[in-house]
Amino acid sequence: MRSCDPVAARRSAKGILYLSALACLISQSAAADVGPTLTAALETGNSDWSAYNVARNFTGVRGMTLDPGSGDLLALSRSSQQVIAIWEDASDPTGFTNATILDVASLPGSPVLALTHGLTYYQANLLVSSATDVYQFPYPSGSRKAITNPPRTVVSNIAGGGRGGAPLGHQTRSIEISPDGQWLYVQIGSLNNVDEDSSRSQIRRVPWAEALAAINADTGSIDFSDMEVFADGLRNAVAFAHDQKGQLWAADNGADEIERPDIGLDHQENPVEEINLLASSGQFYGYPFCFSSNETSTDGTVVQRAMPATKDDGVHSDAWCQDPNNNTGPLATLPAHSSPIAMAFMPSHAGCAADADPNSAPLSFPCSWVGDLFVTTHGSWNADVARGYALYRVPFGSDGRPLSQAPDILLQATEAAATCSPSAGGGLGCFRPSGLVVKNGTFFVASDATGDIVYLVNSAGSKSAASSLASPRISSPQAVLATIAFLFVAMM
Ligand SMILES: *[C@@H]1O[C@H](CO)[C@@H](O)[C@H](O)[C@H]1NC(C)=O
Ligand SMILES: *[C@@H]1O[C@H](CO)[C@@H](O)[C@H](O)[C@H]1NC(C)=O
Ligand SMILES: *[C@@H]1O[C@H](CO)[C@@H](O)[C@H](O)[C@H]1NC(C)=O
Ligand SMILES: *[C@@H]1O[C@H](CO)[C@@H](O)[C@H](O)[C@H]1NC(C)=O
Ligand SMILES: *[C@@H]1O[C@H](CO)[C@@H](O)[C@H](O)[C@H]1NC(C)=O
Repeated sequence: MRSCDPVAARRSAKGILYLSALACLISQSAAADVGPTLTAALETGNSDWSAYNVARNFTGVRGMTLDPGSGDLLALSRSSQQVIAIWEDASDPTGFTNATILDVASLPGSPVLALTHGLTYYQANLLVSSATDVYQFPYPSGSRKAITNPPRTVVSNIAGGGRGGAPLGHQTRSIEISPDGQWLYVQIGSLNNVDEDSSRSQIRRVPWAEALAAINADTGSIDFSDMEVFADGLRNAVAFAHDQKGQLWAADNGADEIERPDIGLDHQENPVEEINLLASSGQFYGYPFCFSSNETSTDGTVVQRAMPATKDDGVHSDAWCQDPNNNTGPLATLPAHSSPIAMAFMPSHAGCAADADPNSAPLSFPCSWVGDLFVTTHGSWNADVARGYALYRVPFGSDGRPLSQAPDILLQATEAAATCSPSAGGGLGCFRPSGLVVKNGTFFVASDATGDIVYLVNSAGSKSAASSLASPRISSPQAVLATIAFLFVAMM
């Protein structure tokens, strides 16, 4: 019999705590019918996966990150202009509790920051982004207290300098500090569906020490236009992340309405979304001249094609795009229009070591997933058959490269095809994945449209010997192993 007393669960061995606490939560929640997301996820019945809420009604939740010192999950909402910290708390009926650590409206002087998306945390620095700036706040690890300092601007002028300027164009500015603390990366996305040049389609970087010195000495912020162009020609790489080797990867959002009738390529399946290795600074990844097509290649690379608007300009032909000296193609892809929005690599896990006690195996994934890439996709908005609305797994080999170009779908809002595409009248009330954090082998996935943050557990992984999980249970893109529930607009 499973105990539903969280205190009893606490007394168990650490590895077991989670599971029994979770079982308890699920039965309590189902009985209490605490919300449609959880209830509907449980109703799928035949799934290996369970999803349950660690936050609700946090509408507009976008960037999420981990405070590694405390293990707290941090999440930013663009609707409420807040950042919350979330942590496990057995005394709370939901098993998790939270605190608002940044509330822009409560800051001294009530600055208008207009935060859009970006959130990262590094050594007591909380960084958030708007369309125009990156702001820093001191935040001691695990503080869980509301920030009362005024913001300090780290990077400014992101939308300036002839780059169109907010509010036009894409406005998310994903930010990340490299794990070694050397660089601060800031991403900028295209002004139009297809721009004239790549000046708004880049990831730039500046030494983090330089940025920190500037704000500490109060000498002003770093001008975005002075930052090194690390990656060029990434149309809108909202999702980027470092792998275990410290290499940066990015998932790009391709353009809409790209047709090449001359070679039989239509908008529905093109361009496929790119997953690029940003191996060295200054490389060019194609936009706005080249795109990744849905064709099957003969040599294992992703076929590069010239964009309709420029293919006949005398320079940017198919041959130009296929010359790796001119255009670096992706190493893996996601379906056209799926809209990658966050990514994370599965870190190593003590329970996966060769000599590990089987009881310390990770709760929710097979050990073969260590090193794999996970990507949330926000979902298509103008494809006839909606796609995306999902969490994908891109299996990686021991060489640190994708094993195949095509990812597996791990979780998908199955209602997406019928109702969630805005062209089908849905969208707002549907589960639209945004932020993603992988923590000690478990997944936290946010949905900005519904304001949910769910915690995912795969019962196939729980307490099984690591060795018995050597082969992943998900083997084809069609294998949809779970449903993430959705809320209708009418229910909001
Ligand atoms: C934070 O926790 C409180 C108390 O459990 C809960 O009422 C509230 O909904 C939580 N906030 C979010 C965003 O889930
Ligand atoms: C979420 O918001 C809706 C609408 O404002 C409200 O009816 C509902 O009680 C809220 N749920 C929680 C858990 O706060
Ligand atoms: C091309 O599109 C089809 C239909 O959606 C899909 O099954 C296939 O995987 C895609 N191929 C590539 C290389 O993306
Ligand atoms: C690649 O670009 C260079 C420089 O623009 C050009 O000389 C070369 O012809 C291009 N490659 C192809 C195959 O067009
Ligand atoms: C990670 O999860 C394992 C069980 O899968 C557990 O034994 C371990 O204590 C966890 N580590 C942390 C830091 O939470």
